[in-house]
Amino acid sequence: MTQKFYEMTPAQRRESLIHQGVDAHTLTAMAEPESPSLPTLDVMSENVVGAWQAPLGILTRCLVNRRVHRVAMSTEEPSVVAAANRAARLFDDAGGVVVRIDEPVTCAQIMVAVHPDAVGEFLHQIETRRDQWIALANACDPALVRAGGGAFDFDVTTRTEEHDETLVVARLFVHTKDAMGANAVNTMAEKILHTWTERCALSIDGFDPGMAILTNDGAGRLVTAEIVLPPGTLRQFVAVEPDVFVRKMARASRFAECDPQRAVTHNKGIMNGIIAAAIPLGQDTRAIEAAAYHYACRDGHHAPLAVWAKDPSSGGLRGRLCMPLCVGFIGAFRASRAVEAAFRFDGIDDYPTLCALLAATGLAQNFGALWALVTSGIQEGHMKLHRRKCGEADPLN
Ligand code: MEV
Repeated sequence: MTQKFYEMTPAQRRESLIHQGVDAHTLTAMAEPESPSLPTLDVMSENVVGAWQAPLGILTRCLVNRRVHRVAMSTEEPSVVAAANRAARLFDDAGGVVVRIDEPVTCAQIMVAVHPDAVGEFLHQIETRRDQWIALANACDPALVRAGGGAFDFDVTTRTEEHDETLVVARLFVHTKDAMGANAVNTMAEKILHTWTERCALSIDGFDPGMAILTNDGAGRLVTAEIVLPPGTLRQFVAVEPDVFVRKMARASRFAECDPQRAVTHNKGIMNGIIAAAIPLGQDTRAIEAAAYHYACRDGHHAPLAVWAKDPSSGGLRGRLCMPLCVGFIGAFRASRAVEAAFRFDGIDDYPTLCALLAATGLAQNFGALWALVTSGIQEGHMKLHRRKCGEADPLN
């Protein structure tokens, strides 16, 4: 029997692609065949044929909750790392960022369909056994429960009726401790769905199991990062007078607050920093982005995740970032040597520090972008960097 592509080693897959007509040079240029991390990468994903390189730059000093960190950042945009460093120096002078985090909670949704006439009976059966579902969920993950986490709450709502059926949606809330928790929570939710299917398929009219999956809304994972930049700090670092700078930054913030088209870009700048820092740490960056943009739209329009205003007591600038961070300190991704090394390099030794560092990087990134935008403009720095990197002639001369 011929071997399936996914069953092959990376080297065999490359051979197979070359047999299929893929040019060997293209393959080598696209994916390195000899990376020492290849065995790990092969376990981390599917149909792996090599390693893909991305630049890793460094935010050299980031003061958060009174601890100094370095932050490894993977991004193809050089001005992101440059702006983060520039902003972090100023933050450092002001005493650093202070970050608070929520106890991390992940919520799973269990959706089933029942005949509209049977909704009352089904809800009765589900709601009166609430503790049973929580216990069933916790039996799926004794280690999480031993660590002080686990499922702790459960509720049910009904959704629209269509085609003679009503959607019933139950939510299971789980303290996931140090994990992002997607696997743990999905296992629990599927267990509950299967149990309902066994019990209700015959007794509830029109019962049809729908699906069980976590929500990526990140509502239970809010992180708040704050900084006050006193006039003395601003005077040292910024070319314009502190009160002028404060007014310009507050205005830039208000622009994002009142204009969703601007807010999208403002938040993209925040995510430039957070995602660049999250990649080397092996995080699910799609989950981080999904929750962030969902939260940004919580009032029905895109709003900024970080805002800046005059600090009434010092007359300086106060910045505040509040957003969900769907990240994990433990999980299968830690099997990668490179990820493990990035955690060590960044000095991240627990879940709160992981959240704090990502949030602080996001706030610094936002400040760095706005600083450039309201003073010299973004292109000057961009082009300067480009010329330094690529040695091209100055397009303005
Ligand atoms: C570019 O990658 C990010 C910025 O557009 C962010 C912003 O406008 O705030 C500079």
